[in-house]
Amino acid sequence: MESILRIEQIEKYYGNKLNLTKAIDNISFDVDEGEFVAIMGASGSGKTTLLNCISTIDKVTSGHIFVGGEDITNLKGNKLNKFRREKLGFIFQDFNLLDTLTAYENIALSLSIQNVPATKIDEAVKKVATQLGIEEVLNKYPYQMSGGQKQRVASARALVTNPELILADEPTGALDSKSAKMLL
Ligand SMILES: Nc1ncnc2c1ncn2[C@@H]1O[C@H](COP(=O)(O)OP(=O)(O)O)[C@@H](O)[C@H]1O
Ligand SMILES: [Mg+2]
Repeated sequence: MESILRIEQIEKYYGNKLNLTKAIDNISFDVDEGEFVAIMGASGSGKTTLLNCISTIDKVTSGHIFVGGEDITNLKGNKLNKFRREKLGFIFQDFNLLDTLTAYENIALSLSIQNVPATKIDEAVKKVATQLGIEEVLNKYPYQMSGGQKQRVASARALVTNPELILADEPTGALDSKSAKMLL
């Protein structure tokens, strides 16, 4: 079976020769389909950098990253957009919800940019909202929600498209232990 994710000798350096930060220093690993992997490390050890390189938010200095067999370190233009839109669900550490959209609209957006019909979107948003216990905040704007509610809405947005790969940067940081368990 092919790995859903293959990390091949990647390095990510920030800065220049005089002031170099080796955020990722030559790592390799594989993740199989259906596998659930947690990466642990001290603050500043490079967890966010790694996730950002896999999600194509950032670029590796060297090495390759394969998602479903496709090298994503060289993707550009439409292929890059398609990868982000269709293959990937990303839960940001600081949520990155759109402030001018309600929870419902934030979640629905993932599907509307894939041209999913409105009735299907409505079904999918309500289903994931029930799973995550956020039905009562669907009409609220981010500023009207608690940190834990925002985190669950951000998670719902990443899950609603049923992506092949879900990346989550400290997704339970703002949650109490019961909500954290529910999300995981
Ligand atoms: N844009 C950047 N420019 C320069 N250094 C950065 C940048 N982003 C992260 N770093 C550095 O890279 C290292 C890893 O950071 P990060 O990936 O955020 O760690 P973690 O998520 O594990 O706390 C840290 O030393 C941090 O200061
Ligand atoms: Mg981090």
